[in-house]
Amino acid sequence: MDTKTTVISPEQLRRQAEFCDEIKAYWLAQGVTPVAFVDTYGCQQNEADSERIRGMLEAAGYGFTDTEEGADVVVLNTCAIREHAEQRVFGNVGALVHTKRRHPRQKIILCGCMMGQSAVTDRIKKSYPYVDGVFSTHHLWEFPALLLRLLKTGKRVFLIEDSPGSIAEGIPVCRENRLKAWVSIMYGCNNFCSYCIVPYVRGRERSRQPEDILGECRDLIAQGYKEITLLGQNVNSYGKDLALGMDFADLLAQVAQIPGDFRIRFMTSHPRDASRKLFDTIAKYPKICKHFHLPFQSGNDRVLKAMNRHYDSAQYLELVEYGRLVMPELVLTSDVIVGFPGETEEEFEDTLRLVEKVRYDALFTFIFSPRGGTPAASMDDPYTKADKNRRFDRLLQVQNRISEEKHRAYIGKTVRVLVDGRDGDLLTARTDGGRLVRFAGDDSLIGQFLDVKITDCTTWSLVGQRPTAI
Ligand code: SAH
Ligand code: SF4
Ligand code: F3S
Repeated sequence: MDTKTTVISPEQLRRQAEFCDEIKAYWLAQGVTPVAFVDTYGCQQNEADSERIRGMLEAAGYGFTDTEEGADVVVLNTCAIREHAEQRVFGNVGALVHTKRRHPRQKIILCGCMMGQSAVTDRIKKSYPYVDGVFSTHHLWEFPALLLRLLKTGKRVFLIEDSPGSIAEGIPVCRENRLKAWVSIMYGCNNFCSYCIVPYVRGRERSRQPEDILGECRDLIAQGYKEITLLGQNVNSYGKDLALGMDFADLLAQVAQIPGDFRIRFMTSHPRDASRKLFDTIAKYPKICKHFHLPFQSGNDRVLKAMNRHYDSAQYLELVEYGRLVMPELVLTSDVIVGFPGETEEEFEDTLRLVEKVRYDALFTFIFSPRGGTPAASMDDPYTKADKNRRFDRLLQVQNRISEEKHRAYIGKTVRVLVDGRDGDLLTARTDGGRLVRFAGDDSLIGQFLDVKITDCTTWSLVGQRPTAI
């Protein structure tokens, strides 16, 4: 396999745009306005990819629906991170046999990270004959070609050839939200954490050119977007492959200097190359949210080594300490895995100790799930599912207490929020740190940055009032 990043040429993308026109003409000739249902699983990378899938569908004349029932095309953008995610997808694919029976012209297409695994695509080929099309993340830009072929030939199409990955600029985007936008700054991952499937299904790390990223951000801000989230599996290694002498902190600083009323988030950071310079940059620019999602995965050094994480708990704590030194208000969140193969009770206690020490604002907790083809999947593991569940519950109890204490500390404070929607009687908003705030107000406030006084809280959210309303 070649290891160089392929840049998809404007000519190749123009060809895809022509395929979209042909699809449009196909439906027009039948006097039909086709509708599509795009169902997304997994992380923000998949959300961002789905916005491109919808962009291409829109260019091909499709409208959108939020159910598979009656849709002319159903696209399932899948996630392979844990077994549970895969089971959900297989369950839903199984159910589609009935929707297709009720609407025989329905085309069923599977894409996303699961389709980067040959065991999955072999299973689809053999056991799910009513699935019409499959493409892996590397073939996203060729979706119009796949769809046109399906419509014209009625034959199944599989675009699953593996590659180190490509960069395609200029695929149309149909964004889900009008206030918050995802901007991918890089694709793939080179870290090969021993438990993780992502490097196998999303290819090698490749960075977009800074001017393409900055151009996209400027356009979004001009369109009125209020929040931009820079995305990558490991944003801290942005630029390493470009050799422009520019790192993630430099990119962040440039985005933060774009004029306009907006804020910036980013995810995800790997502690291995989170630099002091990065913390200094976040501290320096008011537009960058003082929020760091810094997955630690385990508090035990032997386990961290077995995970191939390339840092130890002391180095991790040093980073946290520096971050809080330059930004006392820093909101910290993290990911952690419980029950990595061979993790002992004592090693798990180290994770609990680290959580108590750092006191995260929120924690995403996962039970280890073996992923075929990763080194951790074949490591010995004497511990049972029940052992792991027990540890998971203990960890959750500790974190819930800390989350609630952290939320309680907001009471009486005034915080700046971006109002993003409504949930029943109350408006919903997020602080710069990503905390959910609910408060009374009318819909005209949606899309505004406001100061809100926190009056109460739960483990999961804050309750507020507008100062003028008090
Ligand atoms: N690139 C990001 C994370 C992507 S996956 C990072 O490195 O931070 C999100 C989270 O899923 C990971 O941080 C990890 O905690 C969890 N995860 C990944 N593979 C897993 C597995 N096999 N079993 C359980 N959790 C896993
Ligand atoms: Fe997976 Fe590790 Fe890459 Fe994150 S950094 S995507 S956990 S291999
Ligand atoms: Fe899942 Fe792929 Fe994201 S495996 S977590 S959708 S990168």
